[in-house]
Amino acid sequence: MTWDYDRSRALLGKLYEKAKTAQWNANDLPWQTDVDPQRLAASGNAAQRFALLAEHPDSPIRSWGPKEWETFHVEQQRLTLSLFLHGEQGALVCTGLITATTPWIDAKYYAATQVMDEARHVEVFARYLHEKLEGAYPINDNLGGLLDAIVEDGRWDMTYLGMQIMVEGLALAAFGFMHLLSQEPLLKQLLRYVMSDEARHVAFGVLSLQELYDGLGAAELRERQEFAYEAAVRLKRRFNGGEVFARIGADPKAVFAFLDEHRNTHENAFQQMLFSKIVPNCKKLGLLDAGDGWLRDRFSELGIIQFEGGANALDEYDLVG
Ligand SMILES: [Fe+2]
Ligand SMILES: [Fe+2]
Repeated sequence: MTWDYDRSRALLGKLYEKAKTAQWNANDLPWQTDVDPQRLAASGNAAQRFALLAEHPDSPIRSWGPKEWETFHVEQQRLTLSLFLHGEQGALVCTGLITATTPWIDAKYYAATQVMDEARHVEVFARYLHEKLEGAYPINDNLGGLLDAIVEDGRWDMTYLGMQIMVEGLALAAFGFMHLLSQEPLLKQLLRYVMSDEARHVAFGVLSLQELYDGLGAAELRERQEFAYEAAVRLKRRFNGGEVFARIGADPKAVFAFLDEHRNTHENAFQQMLFSKIVPNCKKLGLLDAGDGWLRDRFSELGIIQFEGGANALDEYDLVG
């Protein structure tokens, strides 16, 4: 708790005001829409990401016909939406935690609005998966392990860094990409609603951490750099999609052995693109270049440093208007 009720952080106060008037109700989405699996199948980018598996003569699933591929595309969407759902629950829990641990009253006010936002996001993804598809895939080790690591770290700013910058930054890029491709009207509208909240969430992370990080020394900053790097590695591995291949009767081990052997440039480019929102925000926080650019070197190895010139959350979220 804090006993200092002085409203001294004007930008956080502004974000809080915006959040209060931007609330929406999950019930207002057109839930009566019949979801057409073919439209949903056509809404993803799995065809491009896994084209190699369809075309290459040595592919272990070369025998798949149009029916298997359509099922695969629907299931890839269902897997992605399931991971969104689990990530949203992580965000719900983390922002509850941040409401308790953040030291400033303006941040507590704002974080409380985000708890409500995240509850709504869990609600809409759960409802879509259960009413329109066959329910959710279970959490996997990479995303589950990352969410656990974020919740269990005792330092209040690590909850922010892990959730508001890393997980939410990835979600912002992933939602935007799915929204762009989506031809299924209910999903498209659902994503538009969710995205209208997420840009504000990343801005909250940048605004809060900026103040703290400005006052940290090199050793403390290195710990934050390492935390960000480990989160990035886990986020990169969060989809292995083995459960989808297995469901359609393929051997996931054979599929991944084939993919490892044949460099899949489409998939790599897609995975890198998901970091397009994370890298500019790490830069804004000074994490890329602290300590002789340790994190810059790691992000170069991961093939994601090219996004450093992109817009950060404070550029993207209009705090003035
Ligand atoms: Fe969310
Ligand atoms: Fe969020």
